[in-house]
Amino acid sequence: MTGIISPAIQAYCSGQSAEPGPLLKEVFDYTLNQMENSSMISGAEVGNFLQFTCRLLKAVKVLDIGTFSGYSALTMAEVIADDGEVHTCEMDLKHKNVAARFFAKSKYKTKISLHFGPARDTLKQFAADSFDLAFIDADKVSYPAYYELCLELVKIGGVIILDNMLWSGTVLNPVTPESAVLRKLGDKIRLDERVINFLLPLRDGLMVCQRLK
Ligand SMILES: C[S@@+](CC[C@H](N)C(=O)[O-])C[C@H]1O[C@@H](n2cnc3c(N)ncnc32)[C@H](O)[C@@H]1O
Repeated sequence: MTGIISPAIQAYCSGQSAEPGPLLKEVFDYTLNQMENSSMISGAEVGNFLQFTCRLLKAVKVLDIGTFSGYSALTMAEVIADDGEVHTCEMDLKHKNVAARFFAKSKYKTKISLHFGPARDTLKQFAADSFDLAFIDADKVSYPAYYELCLELVKIGGVIILDNMLWSGTVLNPVTPESAVLRKLGDKIRLDERVINFLLPLRDGLMVCQRLK
């Protein structure tokens, strides 16, 4: 992922923000040093935003679509209610195994359920209106389907956050299938009366939507 703000500004913002705890730092370092496509990790800026939103919502049950090494799931598990649940979806066996190792080390591990398989199949097993927050961060071409499914699964008043909605800025002039899908979805969300939304230029763009009806 190419940053859309300068590295110096990015470093300043990170320095002025809450630091992740030791396990999240370990996940981050491991991912950067040992995993292919390490830039897929969400990291501290997005993590802080997810934690802040979970706290504001007093979230109990959250959905994490795209586990990778487990960063976003672990982040949310830290701050949701003591009896809360993070349901995280992953279809890559290597990623699932890495995440499972880190989840086992977390003191919040009992809150996390790791669902192995295509996320669209996993999502079908959950009850409607049962989640406080959903974080969409898996394959980009499926984002429109995830968005529609999340509108069923998240409660009215709950929040859906879609990562990478700037796709390194390429949504301005979409040429790849991913940038075209994300641009079209952004245009749709803007006009969708079921939500109120804003596109936050944090990292690669977070589309934040609150379900209204
Ligand atoms: C961008 S990474 C997720 C990053 C993670 N949320 C974090 O905070 O670091 C996307 C992940 O989604 C997984 N993925 C891609 N397509 C998927 C699908 N159809 N179902 C489930 N997982 C999928 C990939 O294997 C990858 O691990």
